[in-house]
Amino acid sequence: MPASITSCKTLPVDVVIMAAGKGTRMKSRLPKVLHRLAGRPLLAHVLKASAQLGARGATLVVGHGAGEVEAFCKADSRNHPPLQFVHQEPQLGTGHAVQQAAPLLPDDGITLILNGDVPLVEPATLKHLVEQCGGKQIALLTVDTGEDAGAYGRIIRAEPGREDSPVHAIVEAKDATLAQRAITEWYSGVMAAPTKLLKQYLSLLRDDNAQKEFYLTDVVKHAVADGTPVVAWAIEDEMEVAGVNSPIQLAELERGVQRRAAERLMEAGVRLLDPARFDLRGTLECGQDVEIDVGCIFEGAVTLGAGVKIGAHCVIANARIEEGAVIHPFTHIDGGRDGVTVGAGALVGPYARLRPGAELGPEVHIGNFVEVKNSKLAAGAKANHLAYLGDATVGERVNYGAGSITANYDGAHKHRTVIEADVHVGSNCVLVAPVTLGAGATIGGGSTITKNVPSGALSVARGRQMNLENWQRPKK
Ligand code: UD1
Ligand code: CA
Repeated sequence: MPASITSCKTLPVDVVIMAAGKGTRMKSRLPKVLHRLAGRPLLAHVLKASAQLGARGATLVVGHGAGEVEAFCKADSRNHPPLQFVHQEPQLGTGHAVQQAAPLLPDDGITLILNGDVPLVEPATLKHLVEQCGGKQIALLTVDTGEDAGAYGRIIRAEPGREDSPVHAIVEAKDATLAQRAITEWYSGVMAAPTKLLKQYLSLLRDDNAQKEFYLTDVVKHAVADGTPVVAWAIEDEMEVAGVNSPIQLAELERGVQRRAAERLMEAGVRLLDPARFDLRGTLECGQDVEIDVGCIFEGAVTLGAGVKIGAHCVIANARIEEGAVIHPFTHIDGGRDGVTVGAGALVGPYARLRPGAELGPEVHIGNFVEVKNSKLAAGAKANHLAYLGDATVGERVNYGAGSITANYDGAHKHRTVIEADVHVGSNCVLVAPVTLGAGATIGGGSTITKNVPSGALSVARGRQMNLENWQRPKK
């Protein structure tokens, strides 16, 4: 990669993203570009790369599933450059797709053409390609692994295999001669071209080929005939330009992305017990000496403080887990919009569930089958077994017994439960909100508490036990 990837500031870049195709081989109702890779639609990856490149604008060519694609883009608009849509109906090929976008492209810039189903292209690569174009020539992104190029378009150079040799044409596999098919350098689908010239060459396209389509790739031969140089830059990382056409390819690419993410984390010192069993569908920030066991999924924005340990098979979304906390196996944490915080040194799980607005202070213990939602637990509070805390404020050192729940919902409204410091809630209690348990109060097991409990009191609210001695059971 050249050092000066920022020096392409000379000319504005307008991106065209082709996303009108049907994606037949996905065999799905969902438009192909909305299928997810690392938790985000394929198209979102392409739009993000366009934004990182600093594109002036992007034009999306839509056709199949246009309504859904546009709806997604509108909801996601803070992550991409100013976007406009053009409809391509019917779809007569990649050249025809770019023809639809052409009237919207300002003449003074460089057009960068991307495929909506090629998600992993790096902004630095795109910048370099734009630089090579420089507003004077057409620059193609190509791949040469030395192996058979399959169904891809072949790069025809004056001297095959020499990167400095000018490109004469791209020939689609279906139109290639045997000799051309043997060429191993193929076109990735990514091209940068001076917009004014590109429009001129687009207007010359014909569909006199094997597929009766207007090929974008034919602009190359028109450029050459017009004396405009065409250069090709062959990269080695095939994954960067891999397209998604089928569920198998999507899954392969997913593994590739995940391997990269895992390697980045491990290079930063994170210990993943098995990088092949790790999934990141968002961002993960880790302090020093973090350990993550197998089968964990991280979604949204997750932060793990120094020394945090995550047990096997946890799903953790939108959460901040502070220094030294331990999340035991099979725990589900989803902060949603409100987020979840787990304080320093806290212990959570196995089989715990933390929902939006759960805020655990330092050294809090949340055990198996305990659910916490929109509740703040102060330092040292414990709910170790089979319990529910919803819309609650829990003081320091509270002990919340097995099977106890806050009845926070009366069918219409949610109410708060306040449990002050050092309260001991016995097992199997129902705390009917709104209710306050004063500091140091004790609640007898099996109580249904509907009234406030004063500080320091013992409250028992259940039927008294009655023993009938020598009881004779009925007999048949
Ligand atoms: C294209 C290139 C080929 C290259 C390959 C790389 C052409 C003629 N060929 O072939 O040289 O090696 O990409 O992946 O360009 N699309 C539209 N409207 C259309 C047709 C396609 O929007 O009418 C979109 C598709 O949704 C897709 C992209 O353009 O996102 C590429 O189309 P596709 O049919 O996959 O092109 P390939 O045949 O793979
Ligand atoms: Ca394709």
